[in-house]
Amino acid sequence: MKTKILVTGSSGFIGFSLSKKLLDDGKKVHGYDSMNSYYDVKLKKARYNILKKYKNFSFTKGDLENKKLLEKTFKSFKPKIIIHLAAQAGVRYSIENPDIYLNSNIIGTFNVIKFANKVKVKHLIIGSSSSVYGSNKKIPFQEIDKTDHQISFYAATKKSTENLAHSYSSLWKLPITILRFFTVYGPYGRPDMAYFKFTKSILAGKKISIFNKGKMYRDYTYIDDIVSGISKLLNKVPSIKQKKKIKNDSLSPVAPFRILNIGNTKKIFLLDFINSLEKELGKKIKRRFMPMQKGDVHSTLSDSSLLMRITGYNPKTNYKTGIKKFVSWYLNYYK
Ligand SMILES: NC(=O)c1ccc[n+]([C@@H]2O[C@H](COP(=O)([O-])OP(=O)(O)OC[C@H]3O[C@@H](n4cnc5c(N)ncnc54)[C@H](O)[C@@H]3O)[C@@H](O)[C@H]2O)c1
Repeated sequence: MKTKILVTGSSGFIGFSLSKKLLDDGKKVHGYDSMNSYYDVKLKKARYNILKKYKNFSFTKGDLENKKLLEKTFKSFKPKIIIHLAAQAGVRYSIENPDIYLNSNIIGTFNVIKFANKVKVKHLIIGSSSSVYGSNKKIPFQEIDKTDHQISFYAATKKSTENLAHSYSSLWKLPITILRFFTVYGPYGRPDMAYFKFTKSILAGKKISIFNKGKMYRDYTYIDDIVSGISKLLNKVPSIKQKKKIKNDSLSPVAPFRILNIGNTKKIFLLDFINSLEKELGKKIKRRFMPMQKGDVHSTLSDSSLLMRITGYNPKTNYKTGIKKFVSWYLNYYK
């Protein structure tokens, strides 16, 4: 029997890319997505149109907040694994629109956890974010570091869902893995993210705004590496019987619950990333240097050695190759 996997956010960037890989690997996938208009709905439809060609793909259009529909979907599909990637993403938008984040990320994730528990899934994987490390100064970020000082509302909702998940995992012995993503980029990416907006502006001959005068770095992670890391994790189910054999394991002492970073583990300065985009696009960039933005973290870098030890995760794509692939997709997609 094919493994049944339910992916929330299947029309989103990571959810789509992951669903496609799972289908290519012969799994049965059910997608759940509201197809909301936070960014270009045509791009969400284009992703969905690719997935719907697979005979092992089925789909429900709905909100996470719609308890009845969500429960019905979980009960009728009977997934073995749920990968929860639907969320209201974006740091800047959360400053102006916190309510949407509260509804989608906290109430929505609570519904997913509650119904995942009701249908007794073998493994629930939940997407979180490097932004939970907030203003931490200790670099690279490790899962066992304290995460008490989020500086955006988005990050606070992500941290809250990690806590909700831990309590449920502890109470009901529901196996949960939290995955903290670090600036994911690549083909079919998110139009609200800086690299995507830069590409659009550069091609239109418009100035791009570079925050903190470019003095920051990110752990840019290419989508194929993310997808391969998550697929390797499906059967690595945390259990309370497991003993902490790995150094700095984040496995909970009271629940089948673990937190994992998934990054590229390289420090890439924003200006180097932009210079690479300029080279690939073959157009001179007009730059506007701006101060640091509210809510933005200064820099991010992951220690992903725990995930590497557990799954053999091995991020292979360096940023220059990744940008080349993204630009090639962008030029072809938007012709
Ligand atoms: N892309 C990144 O760099 C990055 C970094 C850190 C964390 N994350 C996290 O990874 C996950 C996936 O992110 P992504 O980049 O694919 O984002 P995305 O916005 O492309 O995908 C999210 C999808 O969820 C759907 N959605 C949003 N709210 C919903 C709701 N209330 N009910 C049902 N569907 C809803 C959207 O329509 C969208 O298709 C999110 O949890 C995000 O916070 C992403």
